[in-house]
Amino acid sequence: MATKLASREISDLDPYKFMAVIGKRVIHPGGRASTEAVLRRAQISASARVLDVGCGVATTAIKIARLFGARVAAVDISPLMLERAGANVLAAGVADLVTVTPGDIEALPFEAATFDVVIAEAVTMFADRPKAAAEMVRVTRPGGRVLATEFYWRKPPTPEARQVFLGQVCPGMQFDALEDWVQIYSSAGLTGLDTETGPFEMMTPHGFLADEGLTHCLGIMSRVVGRPVHARKMAWLMPRMAKAVPYLGYVVIAGIKPA
Ligand SMILES: C[S@@+](CC[C@H](N)C(=O)[O-])C[C@H]1O[C@@H](n2cnc3c(N)ncnc32)[C@H](O)[C@@H]1O
Repeated sequence: MATKLASREISDLDPYKFMAVIGKRVIHPGGRASTEAVLRRAQISASARVLDVGCGVATTAIKIARLFGARVAAVDISPLMLERAGANVLAAGVADLVTVTPGDIEALPFEAATFDVVIAEAVTMFADRPKAAAEMVRVTRPGGRVLATEFYWRKPPTPEARQVFLGQVCPGMQFDALEDWVQIYSSAGLTGLDTETGPFEMMTPHGFLADEGLTHCLGIMSRVVGRPVHARKMAWLMPRMAKAVPYLGYVVIAGIKPA
């Protein structure tokens, strides 16, 4: 059973931790569609060693273990996420393949060249982006793959949309245009960079349903309406997200560490 947070703690959560608390499993801008785009490019085999950094509640790590039978190190900086990730891995019956441990994308607790595949879905934008990208590349073996999903502005946002999203909804988050991401990963040493883009649908009704499925959506809704602080937080969040959604998108970036 996950630790029950006090109302004050819930109010102070960033939107991603709040999504985890109400039971959302897919917590990145491209939803399951962008995870598919990542996995199509990752070339994971059963013998691969995979790192999922900023794993959230471990949805992608569990999927990789189930789909490919590969070993996955799932790391995150947040104790709240780590608690939920650990519980989900146990419940999914993949604890023999997925390990959940604390880790900071800016200083990963692994030797150089440890992993065949390194994935970060919606993480580097919370950190020093060049440092995070360099760390992902450092822990990848030569010839291995690095894949990331990031936010970007699909079209230039209005000043209001930019301020609401980066100033109120996700203060401190940093991202801009697609070319900036390509530049960051290319400067980190990746070659053969490949990108795929799409709309930000995680918080639209269509995206929410596609990512979580009907039964799980109903569970999330009951947790939202079942606790006033959840309902108040959602009521604050949704109209602000709606202002930014038309301008937001995701980009999947995939590259190879030169052999
Ligand atoms: C938007 S959520 C994405 C979660 C997960 N990757 C997913 O797609 O569902 C961002 C995650 O990055 C984690 N995070 C933020 N800064 C981090 C850092 N410096 N190192 C590792 N994880 C970090 C957060 O705790 C959170 O779990």
